[in-house]
Amino acid sequence: MAEICPETPADEPEVEALYDLCFAPGRTALSSYRLREGVARVAPLCLVLRSEDGILKAAIRYWPVRVADQPVLLLGPIAVHPTAQGEGLGALLMRDSLARARDLGWSRVLLVGDAPYYNRFGFAKLEDVEMPPPTNPDRVLGLELVAGAWVGVGGEVERAPEDARRAAPAGECVTIPEP
Ligand SMILES: CC(C)(COP(=O)(O)OP(=O)(O)OC[C@H]1O[C@@H](n2cnc3c(N)ncnc32)[C@H](O)[C@@H]1OP(=O)(O)O)[C@@H](O)C(=O)NCCC(=O)NCCS
Repeated sequence: MAEICPETPADEPEVEALYDLCFAPGRTALSSYRLREGVARVAPLCLVLRSEDGILKAAIRYWPVRVADQPVLLLGPIAVHPTAQGEGLGALLMRDSLARARDLGWSRVLLVGDAPYYNRFGFAKLEDVEMPPPTNPDRVLGLELVAGAWVGVGGEVERAPEDARRAAPAGECVTIPEP
């Protein structure tokens, strides 16, 4: 069995180490990090997946951003430990976190990533949404958690204002059969 839990401060060093392992050096210099700097994460949606022996296998984080003054969830980073990739853990974290996001009342999600992977979760290219340069527009993908939530919402992605923080319950752990 494995467990998906909200990330706690005690998890943070391991999560950062996992991201360092999975992404190229300089990941925090990416344009998407300018939207995250100094902005609190959406804590109940930042999840860690540990195997029964407590080993961190995967992690996902979300930040709040704004497009056309509308609240948007920025998904990422998501990473699965190289020794566990391709076993469905990424999909488990995607589906679990998106269900939590829907339950918390979020309507739309944005990410920068490979469409061939994220299409399976319902993400599609956002034609009218601009990430800070340099971002390949083909990698700017969106998902509607509420039907029509991206219709008419376009323009530059902006940092969330201070009051974007939502009081939300921390969320619970779920136990899952390990793939
Ligand atoms: C991308 C990632 C999160 C996927 O998680 P995972 O647990 O390995 O993937 P899953 O087991 O859920 O899905 C595996 C499937 O996704 C496909 N896939 C994985 N990464 C892909 C990518 N970048 N583009 C297209 N397809 C991809 C695999 O080929 C496999 O396809 P199949 O189902 O047809 O065999 C993980 O591989 C990872 O951490 N990669 C390094 C960090 C990274 O690139 N993060 C995403 C940034 S956008």
